[in-house]
Amino acid sequence: MTHNPPPPKLSLLPESAPFTPEQRAWLDGFFVAALGLSENGITALPPQDGAALMAGVGAAAEEDDGAPWHDQAMPLPERLKLAEGRPLRRRMMAAMGQQDCGQCGYNCQDYADAIFFKKEAKLNLCVPGGKETLRTLKVLHGEMGAPAAPALAPATPEPATESPQAKVAAGRSRDTPAEAAFVSRTLLNKPGSSKETWHIEFDLSSSGLDYVVGDCFGIFPTNDQTLVAAVIKALDAPADFPIGGRTFREVLTDGVSLGMAPDALFQLYSYIAGGERRQKAKALASGEDPDGDAASLDVLAAIEKFSGVRPDPEAFIEALEPLQPRLFSISSSLKSNPGRVALTVDTVRYRIGKRTRLGVASTFLGDRAAPGQRVKVYVQRAQHFGLPADPATPIIMIGPGTGVAPFRAFLHERMATKAPGRSWLFFGHQHRDYDYFYEDEFSGMRAAGVLTRLSLAWSRDDAQKFYVQDRMREVGRELWAWLADGAYIYVCGDAKHMAKDVERVLVEIVAQFGARSTDEAIAFVNDLKKRGRYQQDVY
Ligand SMILES: Cc1cc2nc3c(=O)[nH]c(=O)nc-3n(C[C@H](O)[C@H](O)[C@H](O)COP(=O)(O)OP(=O)(O)OC[C@H]3O[C@@H](n4cnc5c(N)ncnc54)[C@H](O)[C@@H]3O)c2cc1C
Ligand SMILES: NC(=O)c1ccc[n+]([C@@H]2O[C@H](COP(=O)([O-])OP(=O)(O)OC[C@H]3O[C@@H](n4cnc5c(N)ncnc54)[C@H](OP(=O)(O)O)[C@@H]3O)[C@@H](O)[C@H]2O)c1
Repeated sequence: MTHNPPPPKLSLLPESAPFTPEQRAWLDGFFVAALGLSENGITALPPQDGAALMAGVGAAAEEDDGAPWHDQAMPLPERLKLAEGRPLRRRMMAAMGQQDCGQCGYNCQDYADAIFFKKEAKLNLCVPGGKETLRTLKVLHGEMGAPAAPALAPATPEPATESPQAKVAAGRSRDTPAEAAFVSRTLLNKPGSSKETWHIEFDLSSSGLDYVVGDCFGIFPTNDQTLVAAVIKALDAPADFPIGGRTFREVLTDGVSLGMAPDALFQLYSYIAGGERRQKAKALASGEDPDGDAASLDVLAAIEKFSGVRPDPEAFIEALEPLQPRLFSISSSLKSNPGRVALTVDTVRYRIGKRTRLGVASTFLGDRAAPGQRVKVYVQRAQHFGLPADPATPIIMIGPGTGVAPFRAFLHERMATKAPGRSWLFFGHQHRDYDYFYEDEFSGMRAAGVLTRLSLAWSRDDAQKFYVQDRMREVGRELWAWLADGAYIYVCGDAKHMAKDVERVLVEIVAQFGARSTDEAIAFVNDLKKRGRYQQDVY
């Protein structure tokens, strides 16, 4: 998933001028400022940026246009090592989560560039990168000199000002959410399943929002009230303590993340705790793990670890991260379900010690949102994930688990538009009897010819694991024939393992049935990607 590109900008330089994109951006900004022009989208960079930029010509020239660290499975230290000696903005990119997931509102490269060019002041937007990314970005940001703006998004609400984002229509970005009404949740797993995945519906009719299949839906969740109450109790603070015109409880409910405790919270404890606890708090604040429990310290566990130390509620809130929206692939089509958006959401719950931890957004949708409740939402337009323009083009969709979401949307769209193209879905999950999402719909679509082929893989029905890519191998010859006929191929779901394994098997299939060497098959698959015939929405 990648975000929408920024609006086209005024460029005063001819296309042929021999400048790197950074130099071009700085020069454009310089001319706009010097000539007193004002153009939405052009930011005149302060002189020191320009000087640094032009001084960096050598560095920019060294930069290659590849990003060998752009691999979400590669640990951060390795990514930084690969980026060593590169210009600062490239090292900033290497610090990102590398998923191009769009949750920050950018892809990884554009987020790094936006920070480097001081168009983005928030360093804490990378959800997959978490604390590790934030820590690294803070250090790299330090290399830029004095920050021009606060380095973090504020956790407490700021007074509304007329920002450039305010001009963006409501619901079109995370900065300008709209409101939609929660309609319903329906459990997709049958009793006996170890998963809990919900079909969720929202009513968009009063939000003015629309979307196309392939887009994602952003949700601003609220924290679980039991957790909020436990935090208030553990802090021994008054729930109605006033903070920025709201109460402590309200800010804890929808303003701040109660997930992993941020470094700033430990820093706060290091200022007010004494003795050994002060040293531990300091160590935790710098990413060390003095008691071997750092990975389990969410906000409540951190308060409990430093029980008896009582931070001021306002200072406490300031030390927390803002509660971020979460993205979900849209699993419906407006053409078959006007005014509605559907999602397919797997709830995150896991136990640490005596407490079950809850994924904030997935359990907000799975447990807490009430029918009719208005929720802050936005549509994140997909840039490189969508149906082919020609409805006759065959499509192959590989989506185990919740990865099936956008493909349900594709199929609904193709059914509603009577698209003549063939469709092939690979779906898989743990057990056929419990985890076969949308079984009736897919059977109906098979019978109606909307779904030409349906290939299933159940990973836990037999002694040995069997995954979608194992099924792909079995039908490799036909899969190759579809590709040779110009099919588009799509993958959605788990980024860390599944997407890579599927790609590996696709290369094997191309090599075997397309009579190519492995290198040629890799080049073939890369070419499919370049041409937009191999699209991924992985998270
Ligand atoms: C482009 C995109 C599309 C997406 N589409 C979908 C979709 O269609 N359906 C869907 O369900 N999700 C989807 N996601 C994922 C979704 O956005 C959320 O990340 C997911 O729902 C979890 O968010 P949460 O707020 O519930 O959990 P959070 O509060 O963010 O908690 C999740 C975190 O908990 C921790 N954690 C989780 N399990 C464990 C464990 N067992 N032990 C220790 N720690 C653990 C991890 O640190 C994890 O990052 C998508 C993500 C992206 C980026
Ligand atoms: N970024 C986030 O915060 C976030 C949040 C939620 C989910 N996710 C990711 O999104 C994925 C989606 O979760 P989900 O509930 O939809 O289901 P899932 O956990 O992806 O499982 C779906 C099916 O895929 C199988 N599978 C596991 N490893 C695989 C591999 N390497 N190749 C192919 N198939 C594989 C599973 O089998 P087995 O389980 O039997 O091995 C299961 O049958 C999760 O795996 C998780 O990594 C990320």
